[in-house]
Amino acid sequence: MSTTTHTESYRQVEIPPIPYTPEVLIFPTPQEVDLCSAQVVQEQLMAKPDSVLTLPTGGTPVGMYRHLVESCRAGTIDFSQVRAFNLDEYYPIDPNHQASYARFMRDNLYAHVNMNSDRIYVPNGAAPDPDIEAAEYEALIKQYGPVDLAVLGIGPGNTCHIGFNERGSDVNSRSRYMALDQQTQQANSIYFAENEVMPTGSLTQGIATILEATRIILLAKGAGKAWGIQRALRGDIGSDAPASYLRYHPNVTFILDHQAAQYL
Ligand code: PGA
Repeated sequence: MSTTTHTESYRQVEIPPIPYTPEVLIFPTPQEVDLCSAQVVQEQLMAKPDSVLTLPTGGTPVGMYRHLVESCRAGTIDFSQVRAFNLDEYYPIDPNHQASYARFMRDNLYAHVNMNSDRIYVPNGAAPDPDIEAAEYEALIKQYGPVDLAVLGIGPGNTCHIGFNERGSDVNSRSRYMALDQQTQQANSIYFAENEVMPTGSLTQGIATILEATRIILLAKGAGKAWGIQRALRGDIGSDAPASYLRYHPNVTFILDHQAAQYL
């Protein structure tokens, strides 16, 4: 993998400067989103080997993690000093459940790179009290923060969620329990067995928690994200579209494929 951030193939669009103008990179293919986002993480770790990261789960970042694992095997990226906080986790869920985000991170990244297990943080989906667990998680982020780079996805349909901050989330929200939107439950039901009742809640970093990161990148691929991306970048900033709050942050890059960007 080369160490330059961008290939020649993206298209850049202008977003009105209210109040900040996110950088928006649009690539022809989802594979280029994977590569670009992995390059951003790699450059971050080269510039600051003990970076604090916020990392997402879901279908979108799988290709990014594949590149990071390959780079680690090739010796071009070093995770030994990195501290990483998960963006969210289902609640309740056994951390060993195959659909848990603790398991996802282990399977897609942590089992394959030289991360120090003492520096990996995932909200405990089996904690007896979600409010206490969320408060403790928030305190850990504060203790080790600020997060240098937060990597985000965006929710399906018109949820426009970041983390599991569903519609109605306040800009000042902190890590907390959050009930999952019906559209989120439907989109994520594919990760659970047919006869299984999937969790209807989550533990998520809050909007204010996310916005305290020094730099943020948001990845989106496919037509199912097009409405949310358009709403986040062109619509009013507000709680009915939590991803729109990213426009309150001065250093955000949206890394999109052509389909996710089709309404821009
Ligand atoms: P996805 O999920 O990457 O599986 O589309 C993103 C999200 O729900 O935030």
